[in-house]
Amino acid sequence: MESINSKNIILGISGGIAAYKTPELVRRLKDRGANVRVVMTPNANEFVTALSLQAVSGMPVRTEILDTEGESGMDHIDLARWADLILIAPASASIVSRLATGSASDLLCTLCLATEAPVFLAPAMNRVMWGKPATKRNVSQLLDDGFLVLGPGVGHQACGETGSGRMLDPLDMIKLLEEQISKPPAVNKILEVMITAGPTWEALDPVRGITNASSGKMGYEIARAFQQHGCSVTLISGPCNLDTPSGVRRIDVTSAADMFNAVHTNVSKIQIFIGVAAVADYRPVNTESQKMKKNASEMTITLVRNPDILASVASLAEPPFCVGFAAETENLRNYAVSKLNKKKLDLVAANIVGQENLGFNAEDNALLLIGKDTDQQLGPASKATLSRQLCTIVLKKYEEKNST
Ligand code: PMT
Repeated sequence: MESINSKNIILGISGGIAAYKTPELVRRLKDRGANVRVVMTPNANEFVTALSLQAVSGMPVRTEILDTEGESGMDHIDLARWADLILIAPASASIVSRLATGSASDLLCTLCLATEAPVFLAPAMNRVMWGKPATKRNVSQLLDDGFLVLGPGVGHQACGETGSGRMLDPLDMIKLLEEQISKPPAVNKILEVMITAGPTWEALDPVRGITNASSGKMGYEIARAFQQHGCSVTLISGPCNLDTPSGVRRIDVTSAADMFNAVHTNVSKIQIFIGVAAVADYRPVNTESQKMKKNASEMTITLVRNPDILASVASLAEPPFCVGFAAETENLRNYAVSKLNKKKLDLVAANIVGQENLGFNAEDNALLLIGKDTDQQLGPASKATLSRQLCTIVLKKYEEKNST
């Protein structure tokens, strides 16, 4: 894993209660050998003092674009060029919104516009603010623009509520940061990755059907992560109300049979297959051509098994590297191992479902990753964070498998 040792890091601090953790964060970054310069937004000054940050970083703290006290020759362009990476922690809802519009309203936003270095955001806000459509739109825009997001964590919040939106603790944040600056293993060609996502819809008649609560978020974030790692990504999507991640080729399907066909039409050129979709295991034997009438007091619907798309890909003569998901309400590990072996997979990402705030249609998830030499817990964390972690691990395992 790549270290931040000797890296030039601008720590951007925006206005939020989690700013009280930043002197500790500066210390931990410096412990790892990083050179740290702190830039604060005007609101950050209300939560932590520039003097404390100057003391721990050993460098003057910048707050204004035109800083007559700043050292000479280090204007905002020089500072933007100096950085190997910018880490904004805490990233408030306000700075997330400003960055999403490309605002240059303060020094920190201006640096993010002026730099060619990667910019990482560690969001910190109340769980309702984090869950609002406007915040989701802004974060999604920033991910498309190449920003990287660390967290947020789940737990008790300063406002007294519990949920997603806590800034990660400094050591967890630095660990994730180092994972994400680690280059994916060198591969001598652009990898073709196929991901299934979302639910399927098995029609009973023209207006009714059997489906499930999958939103597609997990699969879409995984697609985004692989695309941002330079892979060519095809997303086979069941009915979802999500924007296609930038640069991803999306094929829309409705039923499990449609998904099976779309996968097998495109599977010959891929190197990695990830089945994230919640595919209906059964479909009605008959689909009525007209809306069914409620004549009888009881109704029996006969269902027939759908083909297992993942198992069918994994049992091809020359299968791609296959990653399955396992959605379980109990015995997570046992069922995951059983799916790994039964479907002949390279990796299984197992998640507990049926809990509030995790899994189906939630912003966050937790994955138990099981493979031949893999046994690793990821999260709880946002689906975007988990996807980037999963992407790094899958590319590494793919490379190991194909170099032997
Ligand atoms: O979409 P979100 O709201 O973000 O929620 C994400 C999720 C909870 C749906 C996701 O993390 C998840 O667990 N996806 C797999 C859901 C599932 O159907 O699990 P399963 O244990 O029933 O299936 C095991 C594997 O076989 C899965 O990879 C599935 O895609 C695949 N499968 C199952 C049946 C079938 N007929 N064909 C398949 O390919």
